[in-house]
Amino acid sequence: MRSMTERPTHEAGWLEKRLPIVSVFRREYVDFPMPRNLNSLWSFGAFAMVALGLLVLSGIFLAINYTPTMADAFASIETIDRRVASGWLVRAIHMGGVSMLFATLYVHMGRSLYYGSYKTPRELIWLTGTGLLAMVMITAFAGYILPWGQMSYWGATVVINAVNAVPGIGHPLASWLLGGDGLGDVALHRFYVLHFVTAFSILGVIALHVASIHVSGSNNPTGVDPQGPDDTVPFHPYYTSKDGLGICLFLAVYAVLIFFLPNLLTLSDNYVMANPVVTPKDITPEWYFAPFYAILRAVPSRLGGLVLAAGSIAVLFAVPWLDRSPVRSARYRPLLKIALPVLFFSFFMLGMAGMHAPTAPWLWVSRLCVAYWYAYFLIMLPLLPKIEKTYPVPVALQGQN
Ligand code: HEM
Repeated sequence: MRSMTERPTHEAGWLEKRLPIVSVFRREYVDFPMPRNLNSLWSFGAFAMVALGLLVLSGIFLAINYTPTMADAFASIETIDRRVASGWLVRAIHMGGVSMLFATLYVHMGRSLYYGSYKTPRELIWLTGTGLLAMVMITAFAGYILPWGQMSYWGATVVINAVNAVPGIGHPLASWLLGGDGLGDVALHRFYVLHFVTAFSILGVIALHVASIHVSGSNNPTGVDPQGPDDTVPFHPYYTSKDGLGICLFLAVYAVLIFFLPNLLTLSDNYVMANPVVTPKDITPEWYFAPFYAILRAVPSRLGGLVLAAGSIAVLFAVPWLDRSPVRSARYRPLLKIALPVLFFSFFMLGMAGMHAPTAPWLWVSRLCVAYWYAYFLIMLPLLPKIEKTYPVPVALQGQN
């Protein structure tokens, strides 16, 4: 029997001449040279892809039974949960998948920030990544409205009120988006369309994200580019097996979430049908939006909160140009090594603040943390290189720079 690695068969040769997908796949996913020293944090991109794949698949099955009208949306979700064969499982995969995707993305971004993976020549990978984050957030926001529970309704109301607060264009923009003055049938239908249009668009942007990784090659924990074949190993079997093992562990955590803790991350208020005349006691977002919700409420002005929250994501797009240090990895940057974990801690504390009422002490925690967020990106990243004495490149890597 002849293996795929030997001379191409007649059919493979025919395809290869017309559309060289087999050889391109081989070059990019089998033989592709990867730095040999990647740690497990480099598997999180693969985890994000798995989570996204499962979200799209389960989403298609949910869409088969979902009805996007005010009268039937809530009941159709109940039907999926209780009457459709394995509907509860498909829904649990979809809901758990959102949390798994956000958790993965936050680690993936933290890794990229720590090892300076956004720096030349990887700016475009970072930009498409930040675009993906924004698109995932929009998709999750639109999706959360669809079950038409109390939190769907009131969570969306908070965001719509914030948009309405923009002077001049806010109100017309909100009513244009909603197709009327408030959340009704037209708005629900539009959020449904928005949800799957952005979900499928994400797949296209991921293709750009991954293609640009294959142009510049992966960064690595040292931040020093591999200098020759001795510093790299082929993607297969080295990283297919490493990512494969990681994916098994990732799926194990995902399965625990689905089968043993299905309600750990959901809010019980969303199991009550939306009621525009009864405001829930606390309007709390899902955990992955909590940091941004805390920012939205950190100042006593709706418009100010919106600008700060949107700006906290917008500033990420500028990161490759804000950080002026020639050294990529925080391993060799003593000051960044302190400043960056403080940023991660601030993000965590913002999340905590977002899940509590905006009164003392949480209000002050969110104010302090949002101030640090902006100070990190706008002051520390540009100015640290001026005072930071970076560590020398280790002897083992010398001569490779
Ligand atoms: C749905 C969302 C995303 C998917 C599926 C995804 C997927 C991937 C994959 C498969 C890789 C290569 C493996 C790895 O380095 O982990 C990667 C690398 C990378 N991603 Fe993402 N990513 C996503 C979102 C993001 C976001 C939100 C950011 C940052 C804002 C980002 C920034 C990067 C960077 C800078 C690299 C290059 C890392 C390096 O070479 O060291 N990605 N991504």
